[in-house]
Amino acid sequence: MTPGLRPLVAGNWKMHGLAADGLALARAVAAGGEGIHAEILVCPPATLVAAVAAALAGSPVATGGQDCHANPKGAHTGDIAAAMLADAGATYVILGHSERRADHAETDAQVKAKAIAAIAAGLTPIVCVGETLAQREAGQAESVVRNQVTGSLPEGFAAAGGVVAYEPVWAIGTGKTPTEADIAAIHAALRQAVGATTRLLYGGSVKPGNAAAILALPDVDGALVGGASLVAEDFLAIARAAG
Ligand code: 13P
Repeated sequence: MTPGLRPLVAGNWKMHGLAADGLALARAVAAGGEGIHAEILVCPPATLVAAVAAALAGSPVATGGQDCHANPKGAHTGDIAAAMLADAGATYVILGHSERRADHAETDAQVKAKAIAAIAAGLTPIVCVGETLAQREAGQAESVVRNQVTGSLPEGFAAAGGVVAYEPVWAIGTGKTPTEADIAAIHAALRQAVGATTRLLYGGSVKPGNAAAILALPDVDGALVGGASLVAEDFLAIARAAG
């Protein structure tokens, strides 16, 4: 944790959830989220953003999107503008997740353009960075994430409250995590790059069993949670572990 920064525990539901399940999950998180110190965020699939945001209104749990387009509107079939997410009740948006970088060949420059669009629409961007296993084994983890931060974060990112999530690609959905020393080393490098006020989340196989130890590391200001965020009790246990 970084003294003075309120931890953020965010759930990335990815491409999971039809209305009935998603709303039940959101309501369970809202009910259990009362009294938890950490800020809590859920990021449902785009189809559920409006309904989840409506269900969470008045609760301590915020709603976010999982991506947005860099343009405010236009001929971009299937894409969603940042202002549309805000209009649906979102206050955050995840950008540059490694699954989007891989599935949609998103570049740092595109992520940066999306972050600019998100901030312009009043959303708080959560920009994801992280190395592949090959990059880690080649000793390049720190330089990769530094380059991603340099390329993906626009000017004014910190002032807008932007958040950075370190998600090693090889730790996502695998049950594997870096050692605590490795997480701390990358977060220290990120801290140098982004300054004192930007919250730095760790993501990649965060579970109730490892959350307290990870969240206690210096410069780890919260978690971005995938699989465990689909189970309300597990997600809430992680949020409680953030102190
Ligand atoms: P898991 O928690 O399922 O490893 O996913 C992490 C992630 O990608 C969150 O964005």
